[in-house]
Amino acid sequence: MSEPKITILDDPQSVYVHAAEEITHFSGEDICTHAEFTIALSGGSTPAAIYELLATRFRLSVDWKEVQFWWGDERCVPPDDQHSNYAMANRTLLSHLELRPEQVHRMRGEQAPAQAARAYEQELRSAFSLADGEFPRFGLVMLGVGDNRHTLSLFPGHKAAIEETQRLVVADEVEATPRPRVTFTPPVANHAQRAMFVATGKAKAEAVRDVIAGPRDPLKFPAQIIQPSDGELIWVLDKAAASLLPNR
Ligand code: 6PG
Repeated sequence: MSEPKITILDDPQSVYVHAAEEITHFSGEDICTHAEFTIALSGGSTPAAIYELLATRFRLSVDWKEVQFWWGDERCVPPDDQHSNYAMANRTLLSHLELRPEQVHRMRGEQAPAQAARAYEQELRSAFSLADGEFPRFGLVMLGVGDNRHTLSLFPGHKAAIEETQRLVVADEVEATPRPRVTFTPPVANHAQRAMFVATGKAKAEAVRDVIAGPRDPLKFPAQIIQPSDGELIWVLDKAAASLLPNR
């Protein structure tokens, strides 16, 4: 387990550009070494700006036909709902690329949550040719952190999801709208080559401080559970989000 690599930039726009550059760079490396880049997208408002940059300024910098898109979590709503993480990524990025349908692996938010979680786990097992007890190795798992210190849909106090060690994907009811969610479990993110948190703004400063520098307590600060065992942990922050980190 290595120390996190933390990059702090002046403002949110510089953060979005840096994150898009990193994704471009990771895709190039992975496509060069194993002919494919597997990315798990995050939801929320922060990544939308990154997806828009990837679809425009960086569109010609990625060999999109070699990219496999997955999601780290999904709200249980239909794929055209305003709360759907798939809908957001589709609007800002996927619909601007010429992708084959088999490159896009969305969580079925329209199904019953437990069923959608089982189906996604099955899809992962089959696409990554996993035997029992194995986990996929994503090129990149994108992550955000909530004001309440959640990441993916792993919410404070949700012991079963936070401490899950066998399942790849679980369903849960969380303290946010919409409540039913489907989410990767920690071991999926922790088997990735790279896990990259992106956060901007003063409102995230306390959460960023607690997750990076607070006492270890993943039940209270779920984003702390993300620690790739044989991969990189990356944080991209603006000055405001990083403002409460010690020694800065
Ligand atoms: C979601 C997420 C979630 C998100 C955080 C931070 O579906 O909501 O994937 O874990 O990353 O809530 O979101 P923001 O970066 O938009 O604040």
